[in-house]
Amino acid sequence: MSSHKILVYERAFLTLGALLLVVCLAALFYASITMGIHLPDKERKIDPAAITSEAPFDNPGVRQTGPGTYEVVMIAQIWLFNPNVIRVPVGSEVTFIATSRDVLHGMHVEGTNVNMMLIPGQISRNTYRFEEPGERLILCHEYCGGGHHTMFATMIVE
Ligand code: CUA
Repeated sequence: MSSHKILVYERAFLTLGALLLVVCLAALFYASITMGIHLPDKERKIDPAAITSEAPFDNPGVRQTGPGTYEVVMIAQIWLFNPNVIRVPVGSEVTFIATSRDVLHGMHVEGTNVNMMLIPGQISRNTYRFEEPGERLILCHEYCGGGHHTMFATMIVE
């Protein structure tokens, strides 16, 4: 191959690489601006050792915060969720506020877009409106050790 041809190919690949970079950055900015995706900020941090003494995690459970709105404060630890059973009336808008006490866990409410990583020291938050009655599993979806497959809770919409 002549050196001229090599130069042409090189230029083409560099241009392609630069274009891909621009597309990826544009997608990143679009996601962060329109969907509010961002890195955890300072006010969402918590000292994992102080979980039992610091609000809201000193009192995990389900609380009504207004007409038709609920808050679920949840702690994940090996290998359970606290609370283990959550009951809300149908049509409720539920905000999950969760963290991990020990290692990395996941929290996915079956059939919803509530799908969070629970990182020790970070508070995760997600809101969902439960329009249909029924029972849903809440699963840990990050491998967290020997009992990972037994780690679940139940969400009952009644
Ligand atoms: Cu907790 Cu897997």
